[in-house]
Amino acid sequence: MTNVDAGENYEVKDLNLAEQGRKNIEWAESQMAALLNVRERFAKERPFEGIRIGAALHPTKETAVLVRTLVAGGADVALCASNPLSTQDDVVAALAKEGVKVWAYKGETKEDYYRYLTNVIKTQPNYTIDDGCDLVFEIHNKHPELISDIIAGAEETTTGVIRLKAMENGNALKYPMFAVNDLKTKHMFDNFLGTGQSTIDGILRATSVLLAGKNFVVCGYGNCGRGIALRARGMDSNVIVCEIDPVRALQAAHDGYKVMPLAEAATIGDIFVTATGNKHVIRTEHMKTMKNGAILANSGHFDVEIDVAGLEGMGKKENVRPFLDRYVLGGGKNIYLIGEGRLCNLVAAEGHPSIVMAQSFCGQALAAEYAVKNRGKLPVQVINVPEAIDNEIAVLQLDALGVRKDTLTEDQERYLKSWEEGT
Ligand SMILES: NC(=O)c1ccc[n+]([C@@H]2O[C@H](COP(=O)([O-])OP(=O)(O)OC[C@H]3O[C@@H](n4cnc5c(N)ncnc54)[C@H](O)[C@@H]3O)[C@@H](O)[C@H]2O)c1
Repeated sequence: MTNVDAGENYEVKDLNLAEQGRKNIEWAESQMAALLNVRERFAKERPFEGIRIGAALHPTKETAVLVRTLVAGGADVALCASNPLSTQDDVVAALAKEGVKVWAYKGETKEDYYRYLTNVIKTQPNYTIDDGCDLVFEIHNKHPELISDIIAGAEETTTGVIRLKAMENGNALKYPMFAVNDLKTKHMFDNFLGTGQSTIDGILRATSVLLAGKNFVVCGYGNCGRGIALRARGMDSNVIVCEIDPVRALQAAHDGYKVMPLAEAATIGDIFVTATGNKHVIRTEHMKTMKNGAILANSGHFDVEIDVAGLEGMGKKENVRPFLDRYVLGGGKNIYLIGEGRLCNLVAAEGHPSIVMAQSFCGQALAAEYAVKNRGKLPVQVINVPEAIDNEIAVLQLDALGVRKDTLTEDQERYLKSWEEGT
């Protein structure tokens, strides 16, 4: 792209945005005490001295706090986006000014998206951090010669972990990968609380519609979907859940939501949100039966959950305002799409609240430290981050919140490990 500020080690929209970016990063830091605690220790212990870390993440203010934390630990960090629309331009400008290698702008072309991934790969990382598995995939596919110098990598999101497991099953995975998403302190909070609130935030910033009284259809009742449904109910929407998994459909029904097939929900929904990690969940056959004015949004990782190409074939597209397009289908019917079907919480809003990301990124920081300490001893597979790290993160966050918990007595500890005592 021609219209960017480019230097030897960066390409960002406008370096002049750096001052606002610095303020936003500091605002995030004011809510990320748990991660700052890790940073303080890293600054003393320097676990990443001589280590190059390549990261493809959503370049938000919270990601900048993670980058600063890794840098404090001695790492040489290179960053690009994990989605063409999720970059906060002021934040990456601030990072570039701080000397971080960073290539990202909001609204990247597909060509630039892959060129920037390549720029990160060219720094020859010893450790990779992914959100969606694109960096790992590019390294395996196009730069396998770099793999011998890679200690391990980490994956941030559900979809990325699914892709990695498919690579492992197909014997295609060539270096150890930590499933940071699968930490309890990650998916039980980030996916649930973070996506729950920020998806509503994205829908409201893009449309500013009233949610009360609307039929709000949530496709997928996993960690993200449960959070979205709960927050939509909190705004007094009539929430309808569509699921394919029998247990989760049952859970949604007992949580008090209407559960029905999307073919049925399509005819009555006002707002539709996908969070499934699956492809073509909302298809043209559904769009054809939707009401005039229906709003579609996606919060799943890739822009495949809504059949956007199918929608484009149905009518004329007009941009209404930032991150909101109207599709004029004829016969007086319009359908609205938020953020081109890309994850609406990062495109139309700012992603998860900082305090939630403090927890997720403690997971990334501590997984990276664990990997470096266990260099050469890690199996080439998708690895769960040790439970001790999960507990450490929870303690860090409890401390940050000033919340105290109970501890087991010696007698209780013995009891829980014994079988002798019964009725
Ligand atoms: N927007 C964000 O910031 C953000 C944050 C975390 C995760 N994610 C992404 O959101 C997606 C969901 O993540 P999760 O952690 O909730 O996953 P999950 O596996 O916990 O839940 C997904 C649910 O979708 C259901 N599902 C699959 N196909 C379906 C279909 N055709 N119709 C209806 N339901 C279907 C599954 O049965 C499952 O219950 C993933 O792509 C993940 O990477 C996004």
